[in-house]
Amino acid sequence: MLNIITIVGARPQFIKAATVSRVIKARNDISEKIIHTGQHYDGNMSDIFFDELNIPTPDYNLGIGGSFHGQMTGQQLEKIETILLQEKPDIVLVYGDTNSTLAGALAAVKLNITLAHIEAGLRSFNKKMPEEINRVITDHIADLLFSPTETAVENLINEGISREQIILSGDVMYDAALYYADKAESKADVLKQLNIGGNYILVTLHRAENTDNPDRLSAIVNGLAELSANKHSVVLPLHPRTRKKLSEFGLLENLCGSVQVIDPVGYLEMVLLEKNASLIITDSGGVQKEAYFHKIPCITLRDETEWVELLDIGWNKLCDVKQGRWDSLITRFAEQMQPWEPIYGTGNAAHHIVSQLVEYAR
Ligand code: UD1
Ligand code: UDP
Repeated sequence: MLNIITIVGARPQFIKAATVSRVIKARNDISEKIIHTGQHYDGNMSDIFFDELNIPTPDYNLGIGGSFHGQMTGQQLEKIETILLQEKPDIVLVYGDTNSTLAGALAAVKLNITLAHIEAGLRSFNKKMPEEINRVITDHIADLLFSPTETAVENLINEGISREQIILSGDVMYDAALYYADKAESKADVLKQLNIGGNYILVTLHRAENTDNPDRLSAIVNGLAELSANKHSVVLPLHPRTRKKLSEFGLLENLCGSVQVIDPVGYLEMVLLEKNASLIITDSGGVQKEAYFHKIPCITLRDETEWVELLDIGWNKLCDVKQGRWDSLITRFAEQMQPWEPIYGTGNAAHHIVSQLVEYAR
């Protein structure tokens, strides 16, 4: 029996882990235990995903979230180490680029436990992003690196990581998008409950570089208000981090006056909102790709992105938030979009990853 410990803590990790855990559950030669660090803890940032996506209840919930990054990462590392010493897993599995990823990765390698990193090799080449630090370190200490794209594989090779450790697996988020697309229809009521008419723009916003800088955040609020003034319906499920910052900078009222701000939604509702949007505007990594999975054009509120393939084929555009004039970006979309092609694998990434883990442990 192969013993795996999976470490998750933030919203996108629950969605990624759901696909891999489902494949693990269907086998009888792997036992998986889940550690939830508690980095995300509100019901609509955590529990809803475990319930809706049938993720096994975490064996451990550390309850460590909401603090400064160093403190959060350090406290998580300490608790995860204690658990790994008790559980003695064969493999530790971490996802993405959050503080929980880094804490789990460090705890595993310090105990000489095989570390597997899913979503390895993504780079923004912007070291001011906490995520960039987390993923670079995790990639350089991992034993097995599962990359979603060829660009990610090349990034790792360029950094000197051995080709033998890298597996081009495809993207587990594409697996999730395919698996849950029809199931999301059960949430069709969400569209009726919203006051959005038939045609709307879906927005998400939470990246530190946007939320923590009052000038930038204010420029984004103004950009959204302008879209609304130009007769676009705008729906924004608001991340708790962004809500706090908008309040702190006195911008929340202005935003709520111009666009439809709602609480964060579960994954199935989110998929439904994505599939039916005319455009998605976001600074999320996952949502940029989901826009493409569901064939919706996307504007990214950042200066760079890790998912460069989508820029190359014209389905995604970076937006200089301070420059404004988002409307002009929208009108130029259609003529620049190349035909849709499957660049994130075949929807089989989780199967591929799990069989490689079993093979590695043999
Ligand atoms: C984290 C990840 C980011 C990921 C995002 C997904 C890091 C460095 N950042 O960012 O890569 O894209 O999750 O959503 O790991 N909060 C709540 N309730 C919650 C969760 C957070 O109120 O359930 C508030 C707290 O005030 C907290 C703040 O949001 O301090 C930020 O949370 P944190 O986990 O530090 O970072 P995120 O911005 O969520
Ligand atoms: N998501 C969700 N509800 C929301 C907003 C996002 O279920 O209200 C999902 C989204 O569909 C995607 C994931 O959360 O699967 C992306 O997470 P997030 O944007 O928080 O983080 P990132 O991908 O930027 O790390």
